[in-house]
Amino acid sequence: MQAERQSEELNRSTAFDNKLRPTDFDGFVGQEKVRDRLMLAVEAAKARGESLDHVLFSGPPGLGKTTLSYILGEAMGVNVKTTSGPVITKPGDLAGLLTSLESGDIVFIDEIHRMAKTVEEYLYSAMEDYAIDIMIDQGPNARSVRLELPRFTLVGATTRIGLIAAPLRARFGLVNRLDYYEPKDLAEIVSRSAAKLGVDIDAEGALEIARRSRGTPRIANNLLRRVRDYAQIRADNFITGPVATQSLGLLEIDPHGLDDMDRRILETICVKFGGGPVGLSTIAVSVGEEADTVEEAYEPFLIMEGYLERTPKGRVATPLAYERLGLSK
Ligand SMILES: Nc1ncnc2c1ncn2[C@@H]1O[C@H](COP(=O)(O)OP(=O)(O)O)[C@@H](O)[C@H]1O
Ligand SMILES: [Mg+2]
Repeated sequence: MQAERQSEELNRSTAFDNKLRPTDFDGFVGQEKVRDRLMLAVEAAKARGESLDHVLFSGPPGLGKTTLSYILGEAMGVNVKTTSGPVITKPGDLAGLLTSLESGDIVFIDEIHRMAKTVEEYLYSAMEDYAIDIMIDQGPNARSVRLELPRFTLVGATTRIGLIAAPLRARFGLVNRLDYYEPKDLAEIVSRSAAKLGVDIDAEGALEIARRSRGTPRIANNLLRRVRDYAQIRADNFITGPVATQSLGLLEIDPHGLDDMDRRILETICVKFGGGPVGLSTIAVSVGEEADTVEEAYEPFLIMEGYLERTPKGRVATPLAYERLGLSK
């Protein structure tokens, strides 16, 4: 029942994601360096009449990896076929997908770090030589058959760049890391989303939501959705600073954007380990999460916001961390 409700919530928020997803580079706010690099690559590939180089996106969830993949498809004027790492379990799955493409098409593999290792090796030759050698039959009759593939573009996305093997990574011409967004960019995203949803918002209201969004557009859009409900019932469909503050307070959203796992990580360091230094794997065990996830999905935000420092001896909590947790050092 719990799981059912969660998946329903997930579906709804996926539909919501799609509704608010910008479809071109103009609608994509922030991440200027990544955006410029991609726009240049698209223009150059089109001028040469070639397919786009293979592209890898890495970064924490909700920062725009999927969005950019679709934008690339639009910009190149090609189809985007979507799949994800865990779904491709056999070389045949990959072959089936790649042979169904038209020349220039984009294959988007989400969570590419979760693809089976046995399949990954086939991907190497597909990316490099646009061909796949598949073994058929077994024992004495075993032989390999070469399947030629159309020129395609692989776009991979991962939250865990550390788990991408070097040979795979090396086959991407464009490797892009997405970073957390500044409040001003998030406020811009919130304003644009509000316009798409048909609710009025002023600059202060947008900034109030932006500040609590953990640097993440998906969280900003989700908070906007909650605030919109409140504004509709209590505030004539107009989100001002005070309206946003009141409704987010009612929802018990942390005013600094810290989520539950962020707090647990900081609490572990401050309370259990006297502020550190403490090793990453020790923190991971304490909070019941994988070390790579702590390092790649949570720490960058905590470091950017000045709660945590990485030192040669381990992680150290800053005075700001104590302050936010309401602890004295
Ligand atoms: N730069 C951006 N500008 C506007 N909206 C964005 C931007 N990045 C992400 N979003 C919004 O955030 C949501 C999540 O983005 P998504 O691309 O699904 O993230 P990811 O694939 O990295 O987890 C999307 O609905 C999209 O509308
Ligand atoms: Mg995604």
